[in-house]
Amino acid sequence: MKKAATKRQPAKQFVSDKVGFFTESVIREMTRQAMLYNAVNLAQGFPDFPAPAEIKQAAQQAVAADVNQYAITWGAKSLRNAIARQMSVWQGIQVEPEKEITVCCGSTEAMISTLLAVCNAGDEVVIFEPFYENYGPDSVLSGARPKFVKLRPPKTDDGEWTFDEKELRRAFSRNTKAIIVNTPNNPTGKVFTRAELELIRDLCAEFNVLAITDEIYEHILYDGTKHISMVSLDGMRDRTVTINGMSKTYSVTGWRVGWAVAPEKITNAIRKVHDFLTVGAPAPLQEAGAAALSLPPEYYAKLAAGYRNRRDHLIPSLIEAGFKCFRPRGAYYVMTDISAFKHADDVSFAKFLVKEIGVAVVPGSSFYRNPRDGAKQVRFAFCKKPETLDAAAARLRKLRR
Ligand SMILES: Cc1ncc(COP(=O)(O)O)c(C=O)c1O
Repeated sequence: MKKAATKRQPAKQFVSDKVGFFTESVIREMTRQAMLYNAVNLAQGFPDFPAPAEIKQAAQQAVAADVNQYAITWGAKSLRNAIARQMSVWQGIQVEPEKEITVCCGSTEAMISTLLAVCNAGDEVVIFEPFYENYGPDSVLSGARPKFVKLRPPKTDDGEWTFDEKELRRAFSRNTKAIIVNTPNNPTGKVFTRAELELIRDLCAEFNVLAITDEIYEHILYDGTKHISMVSLDGMRDRTVTINGMSKTYSVTGWRVGWAVAPEKITNAIRKVHDFLTVGAPAPLQEAGAAALSLPPEYYAKLAAGYRNRRDHLIPSLIEAGFKCFRPRGAYYVMTDISAFKHADDVSFAKFLVKEIGVAVVPGSSFYRNPRDGAKQVRFAFCKKPETLDAAAARLRKLRR
């Protein structure tokens, strides 16, 4: 019997166009490379030392007490209350836990839920670059177009990363929906000053733009710098989404608990997106989060001092090995200039470091829209034990030869 002729269907792509606009995370790829080559991993920003005992205990107790089913979609009440309390203590901001907080699976989910909740196709989102690599794909996935504004490296050893006021103004237009501000900043370690934030605030007011701030390093500060939350500035209460999480402050990056604090109307939109993306963050870890956010102020002072010691431990060995270091004022990364090594670019240098020297770093280009802008930079993470930093320093000494 003859086979019935099948009707020809037009060729169909099973992968969406938008996925073609970004690559997999280079940071996470470098961790896989570190494992492959048995290298010291100074690439991805996760601590290799234990999380605080009292927080782990709180998590164990929550599991034992059978807090093992879905939490309320927008977050356990105990955690939302603790977040509101913290915002009042640290920034003097009163927020309504029932109406203005959404707990998500990490600040990563809080950021993309926010962008999906506020952006329409064609909206523009202003992003400072170098930027934390998620912001580019997050904008694309939410249909928005990223507009980048340069942060320029310090000219002197002790200088700060700065931006040009005119360039920032040019990035704003009637299509601008939001600006993402990450302070303390990954990868540069910049802590935005009050004057800089006020400038951004004024542009947000003039162009009717929302500020989405990623403040997950708020407690990791050096050299007397102060963290200022955008939402605490006059006029910003109704146009700011503040994103934060447990990962960095409590050294629990694997727990996946973060949150977005926003005015009620925006929170309702974020909660809808969050519900259909993930339903909720891990229930027992949210209870442990409430315990974590109740730690005394000394905890935060110790956290910052520990990271300052690590920074001051790593930087001299990087300088000795030939890197030019941009001294961070906050967060736990050092951006470096690799011009002295005469490699073709950051990617070939990072490959050489992980394979031949045994240290994994993140190539600078992964923090820029145009890879050329980061071709002479690599980033080191120093959220590691002193012995890990020593092992990296010993291997990097080989570069001197
Ligand atoms: C600036 C910034 N935002 C967000 C994240 C991810 O945070 P979370 O673990 O809360 O998703 C990171 C992690 O390195 C980061 O550096």
